[in-house]
Amino acid sequence: MRLLPVAITGKIRRPEIMNIQFEAHVAEIGLFFGSDEGNTEGVAYKIQERLGDEHVDVLDVGDVTQLEFADYDKLILGIPTWDFGQIQSDWEDFWDDVSEIDFTGKTVALYGLGDQFGYGDYFLDAMGMLHDVIIERGAKTIGFWSVEGYDFDVSKALSASGDQFVGLAIDDDQQEDLTADRLNRWCHQIVVEFGLDLDVTELDD
Ligand SMILES: Cc1cc2nc3c(=O)[nH]c(=O)nc-3n(C[C@H](O)[C@H](O)[C@H](O)COP(=O)(O)O)c2cc1C
Repeated sequence: MRLLPVAITGKIRRPEIMNIQFEAHVAEIGLFFGSDEGNTEGVAYKIQERLGDEHVDVLDVGDVTQLEFADYDKLILGIPTWDFGQIQSDWEDFWDDVSEIDFTGKTVALYGLGDQFGYGDYFLDAMGMLHDVIIERGAKTIGFWSVEGYDFDVSKALSASGDQFVGLAIDDDQQEDLTADRLNRWCHQIVVEFGLDLDVTELDD
């Protein structure tokens, strides 16, 4: 819980009330997603359910400005890949803003959605592109995820060692039955890597 100052404009009849503060709840983690068809959005709320809505604020990147990013030192960013290795449309519109955000001191976990069989030469490329931008801007990234159990040819979302993705890989097109378990395990992982002391609710959704 943080106290945020209220900006009061116009004529002040009672200056003594100028320091009024109100309580606004800002969670420790800000989860920002972009989604064309709802899969990445759905995963956002599944993550929030596992970590608790008092700990995670969910925001659609299509509705925010850079300012909302300033509220959080811990971030989860969700991005699907579209049209043969392209960034999802809302993230694309926001791309110049992302490139201007100072991520120094921020810890970021990424998750990406893609289709490993349909687009095996571009699997989760957008997650890799987002990772590159935020690293350039000073972010510390966590939540890397093994490539074991996926079948694809090429991806820009691989770590330097090539045996991990730079974030959680979700494929609701081909492996939807694995999503709940992957989310349970990844949420446990990022709680530890964020250094948070909170309980993860395991779900079978
Ligand atoms: C026309 C089309 C192009 C796609 N291109 C890619 C791609 O290049 N790489 C990939 O990994 N997935 C690709 N996908 C799969 C989507 O990323 C996947 O369906 C994802 O879950 C969509 O997320 P959203 O519902 O949040 O928009 C594509 C899907 C469609 C229908």
